[in-house]
Amino acid sequence: MKILGVETSCDDTAIAVIEAGKSRNKPHFRVLSNIISGQVDTHAEFGGVVPTLAARDHAKNFAPVLMKALKEAETTIEDIDLIGVTTHPGLMPSLVVGVHATRAVAWKEDKPILGIDHLEGHLAANLLDDEAPKVQFPAIALIVSGGHTQLVHMRSFLDYDIIGATRDDAAGEAFDKVAKLIGLPFPGGPPIAAEAAKPSEVNLELNLPRPMANKPGYDFSFSGLKTAVLYAVRDRYGTTEDPDIPEDEKAALCAAFQQAVVDVLVKKTVSAAWEYDAKTVMLGGGVAANIELRRQLGEALAHMAPADIRDEAEPVKYLLPPQGLSVDNGAMIAATAYLRWGAMSDEERSRARWQSISVEV
Ligand code: KG4
Ligand code: ZN
Repeated sequence: MKILGVETSCDDTAIAVIEAGKSRNKPHFRVLSNIISGQVDTHAEFGGVVPTLAARDHAKNFAPVLMKALKEAETTIEDIDLIGVTTHPGLMPSLVVGVHATRAVAWKEDKPILGIDHLEGHLAANLLDDEAPKVQFPAIALIVSGGHTQLVHMRSFLDYDIIGATRDDAAGEAFDKVAKLIGLPFPGGPPIAAEAAKPSEVNLELNLPRPMANKPGYDFSFSGLKTAVLYAVRDRYGTTEDPDIPEDEKAALCAAFQQAVVDVLVKKTVSAAWEYDAKTVMLGGGVAANIELRRQLGEALAHMAPADIRDEAEPVKYLLPPQGLSVDNGAMIAATAYLRWGAMSDEERSRARWQSISVEV
């Protein structure tokens, strides 16, 4: 079936068309189009997303992005079998625009429509990789984005508990705030990762904390780490307002900060995988685009399962969303709509109409 997915929970107007079906008893997806209209310029001067400005831009971009998504998929709205739209969580003004514009389309075209949980979307993004192995449960998922840092214990894609979450800043938010502090553009994840990848001989001896890493449980906290970077910058460069940081020191600072975040995320995820005897571990959310996180979590999982001490002799499967589909996109929302639709009765499906969905924040 052809599914239209709409995502406007933050600052990306993202609409995709996917073809979804089953092949060899597992869901199989083909992304026919995936259009993302970002708003980096709108929010750049504020160093974070301004909800009302985001809503204004979604309203402006919705129709052109929809038309482009249909055109690139070489399809028409009449050929769409199901629509999924993010209804929660997210910025309320942003969601209102996307949900109600999509509702209007569903009404006009008389199409079934489902309200989708954005975080389930980040989980489903793992299925959009053609090469992905069949997911075996129980699974542990780490969702790390600009708004969330969560560890999820999954019995299936639609049946899960959140076992840990951040108590303050999300991991992506910490990247964004540290980037702002040291004069890198928003969103901060990609430029910090790029700086961290530069070779640097400098050792700043920052000794940044790994908050919560050695505490029991699966909660996170990143605001102390962000503050530790702030104090280090203040002490070393005399100011936190536009500090003048030499290039090689900036690279070393970014690498140290990124490593502190990655250490905490890897440690907690591996502990959860042990405790819940996970057969699969997966990643989701914008920070899952981080190459060091992807690599180091994979390495830690590969070393985690010596067959002699674990009951399960099989190594843990490790799933990653395709690099470009880690950040917010419509394809992951469409894929989630497919999974939800598959679990519904005929009666529930007949009620999946525009009247039954609304923003859920
Ligand atoms: O999932 P997402 O696109 O939007 C939310 O739902 O929040 O995540 C955006 C976040 C931003 O904070 C951004 O800085 C971060 O993901 N991010 C990264 C990378 N790419 C995006 N963080 C670290 N490394 C990256 N390569
Ligand atoms: Zn997201």
